Amino acid sequence: MTDSWATSGADLHLELRGPGLRSGLMEALREAVRSGRLAPGTRLPSSRSLAADLGVARNTVADAYAELVAEGWLTARQGSGTRVARRTAPRPGPAAGPRAPAGRRPPVRRPPAHTLCPGTPDLGSFPRDAWLTASRRALTAAPHEALGYAGPHGRPELRAALADYLARARGVHAHPDRVVICAGFVHGLRLMARVLRDRRVREVAVESYGLDVHWDLLGGAGLRTPALPFDDHGTRTGDLDRQGALLITAAHQFPLGGALPPDRRAAAVDWARRTGGLVLEDDYDGEFRYDRRPVGALQGLDPERVVYLGTASKSLTPGLRLGWMVLPEDLVGEVLAAKGTSDWVTGTLDQLTLAEFLRSGAYDRHVRSMRLRYRRRRDQLVAALAERSSHIRVSGIAAGLHAVLELPPGTERTVVQAAAWQGLALHGLDRYRHPGVPPGRDALVVGYATPTDSAWPGALDALCRALP
Ligand SMILES: Cc1ncc(COP(=O)(O)O)c(C=O)c1O
Repeated sequence: MTDSWATSGADLHLELRGPGLRSGLMEALREAVRSGRLAPGTRLPSSRSLAADLGVARNTVADAYAELVAEGWLTARQGSGTRVARRTAPRPGPAAGPRAPAGRRPPVRRPPAHTLCPGTPDLGSFPRDAWLTASRRALTAAPHEALGYAGPHGRPELRAALADYLARARGVHAHPDRVVICAGFVHGLRLMARVLRDRRVREVAVESYGLDVHWDLLGGAGLRTPALPFDDHGTRTGDLDRQGALLITAAHQFPLGGALPPDRRAAAVDWARRTGGLVLEDDYDGEFRYDRRPVGALQGLDPERVVYLGTASKSLTPGLRLGWMVLPEDLVGEVLAAKGTSDWVTGTLDQLTLAEFLRSGAYDRHVRSMRLRYRRRRDQLVAALAERSSHIRVSGIAAGLHAVLELPPGTERTVVQAAAWQGLALHGLDRYRHPGVPPGRDALVVGYATPTDSAWPGALDALCRALP
């Protein structure tokens, strides 16, 4: 047995096994690929240098490489050398543990080739060039002081730019002093949970359908989250009672997709005024409305009783982890205290870049262009469904990054499974149901913004094939 390192190309440790040098080398390479030590795409040393390292004839290595290429373990291309193939023979599972008897192994589910799960914008459309331009400008203009530890409020440049933008585009009453920067909506909600607990609030009313991460986060902070009843017009805010706060997606209910009617918006604010409660407004996709002008934020009705929470996760990308809160005056100090003495989570450079992005008009341009793109996709989805199936209806307003497809009763789970077997990841409505709410209608929550432009036609096609 020879034990050796190759020192040019990939740094390669091989243990040659077995009687023959060539077959020993081949088995050692197969083992390295199988175990993952050699990742797909890794460039191997040239046959000359590996031969020199192993002390074997160059032809031995060249022959071993050639056979492994023929078997599909390696690829060889003029100019790019010999590499580990992108798709090699399947890796064995863990050595220990029971295996299904031959012939009775469960079929292997294909990893999804497409996803229409909601929650993510088209990441391929992130405006990289415009963002880089803004970033360069922001960094060039930033004073040295901006590069140090930052206070919890957020950069003043960003707070001022957001106050302007939110007043203009979302009808929010915003003064820069009332804006606090956070790491996305979830961070803002976490801060509010702490403040509410400190104020001895016990319950935050939530909607019948929503995101379990938000309910869990509130629950983890010691707050109960009873669900408000829901009917064809949306969340019944008139049923609010002694809860200390309400979390609501008023402009575009997530996931059902309705806009809260004016009388229910007013009822939420009246309740907050009457009881001293707070409304936490999750305005996650307010910029994206396709049928008419966006519904303004609920916060405009009473800035002292509504906490407005916005995010860059839909309009730009969730990877930025940037969000903003616009607070009633008497909450600013408490939220800043909950955030800590410094801003430990939100980077200053991204804040400065976003401020420049907003100020220069690049944000408006990006949102306008994405609005057109998403609107086109929604139209294509509706048209494809109309052609494909007369019993599938799209409900909710023409807005946002997702649509709800109403299914025939009893079919939701089968459709989601059928789609999965075809390589399409889909979410049924039921996964967004609050645990205290009885099972309701069958539907899909289709994130039509999620695929890139090139993946969208294939995803739409796969969806149509999975439908009953
Ligand atoms: C209803 C709702 N609110 C808020 C968010 C945004 O969360 P974050 O800003 O933490 O990324 C999402 C993202 O999926 C969402 O669906």
